[in-house]
Amino acid sequence: MLHIDNRNETGITKFLFLGLGNPIELQPFLFLLFLVIYLVTSIGNIIIIILVAANQHLHIPMYFFLGNLSCVEIFYSSTILPKMLADLLGGDRTITVRNCLFQYYLFGSCVGVETFLLAAMSYDRYLAICRPLFYTSLMNKEICFQLIAVAWINGFMANSIIVFLIAQFSFCGPNVIDHYFCDLSPLKKLSCSDPSLFELIVLLLSFIFTIAPFFLTFSSYICIIGSIIKIQSIIGRRKAFSTCSSHLMVVCLFYSTLIIVYILPDTPTLRHLNKIFSIFYTILTPLANPLIYTLRNKEVHQALRRTVDKLRTFFEGS
Ligand SMILES: *[C@@H]1O[C@H](CO)[C@@H](O)[C@H](O)[C@H]1NC(C)=O
Repeated sequence: MLHIDNRNETGITKFLFLGLGNPIELQPFLFLLFLVIYLVTSIGNIIIIILVAANQHLHIPMYFFLGNLSCVEIFYSSTILPKMLADLLGGDRTITVRNCLFQYYLFGSCVGVETFLLAAMSYDRYLAICRPLFYTSLMNKEICFQLIAVAWINGFMANSIIVFLIAQFSFCGPNVIDHYFCDLSPLKKLSCSDPSLFELIVLLLSFIFTIAPFFLTFSSYICIIGSIIKIQSIIGRRKAFSTCSSHLMVVCLFYSTLIIVYILPDTPTLRHLNKIFSIFYTILTPLANPLIYTLRNKEVHQALRRTVDKLRTFFEGS
């Protein structure tokens, strides 16, 4: 059983982030860098949401998924970056245990929603490319809506369980988190409760909520690439590939860094590397998504141009 005792009350109430472990001279530079990243991420994702909402011809499952993904990514970077920016600016680098759990809850849930949305998006591309005759019967607005609802509910539900379990932990010191946000493994390391049952439950939940969507995504892409290779004409092949290449890039970036972070063994030298890869999936994935889609995807590109034109005529006319 989980070891519950009342040391919690006399124990630690605040954690201290060590942050990126950068030299202090670099702090203003890193502050500016991450501020720019945060602004570009938020604006880029807001633009995608507006484009999807404002353009009738983007009202199809693929872009509903994309709009929801952008939504998650705004939340996602907002759970980590504002606190990190405040710390870089010379904030006190502490976080109460409660806020730390809350940060993990929001962050972990967004990662969960993201893995499900990426899986749903790959399934959508799989149907469009490998089962085109059944596409309209297997993927319509209603099914799309259900898949999106499942993604949000699952992401938040899995992490409610995890956070409920961590909240039972006692933290008796040290209270230093060698990271720039509250992730699960540094938190678990700081607790003095017996983590064995917790670890078992986390393993089970991550199997259901991360590894299953990962395999769904992975196998969809194997089928997609298999059928694209079979297309005879080069133009046809390029056309089929162009509808899923943006998404494939986002998937690869997200999963490769996520896997590196959670598979790297936790030794002091590798911990630094671990933080750098955490930056990739916590900070750069939400940034990359709008960039990849607005720059590479023709439909989004055209929608962007049309919306800008509309705005221009509106302002010139008034
Ligand atoms: C998210 O998905 C729902 C359900 O399909 C859709 O109605 C909504 O517009 C999407 N949200 C965004 C921001 O695109």
